[in-house]
Amino acid sequence: MFDFKIPADDKATMYRDLASALEGLVAGEPDAIANMANASGLIFETLPDVNWVGFYRNVDEELVLGPFQGRPACIRMTFDQGVCGAAAKTRQVQRVEDVHVFPGHIACDSASNSEIVVPLIRDGELLGVLDIDSPKHARFTEEDETGVVKLGEILSRVL
Ligand code: SME
Repeated sequence: MFDFKIPADDKATMYRDLASALEGLVAGEPDAIANMANASGLIFETLPDVNWVGFYRNVDEELVLGPFQGRPACIRMTFDQGVCGAAAKTRQVQRVEDVHVFPGHIACDSASNSEIVVPLIRDGELLGVLDIDSPKHARFTEEDETGVVKLGEILSRVL
């Protein structure tokens, strides 16, 4: 078992340490499921105020649930559904302060109030998305976005 204790007091330091822990966790491991599983565990354990962290994989232009931490979630989404679909379709990070006003948001866990979704792209190919939900409104700042995008870059190399 890995026991990363990353303090969350200072965001910049926390994301730096989180990125470094993630690099270490996935180093030399070619199995995408193992890497997504460990990444979701690490991120869920490290970020404060999150209730769901996980992956949707691009399977024939449909988003299919991958490894995650949190409550059981919806299994499939089209690129026209939800915040995840918007991230997949536009290939842009979706940082949503209030998911209840996002058109087409899919409420898998009623506790979720804000969300960030990062598309995972390698060599021009959309591999899937990393989805992080929070029960707090406007939980994710620009600083969080920068940090989570960096995590997505590390993951895109090993999925
Ligand atoms: N809220 C997401 C659906 C997935 S769950 O949050 C795990 C969305 O609308 O994309």
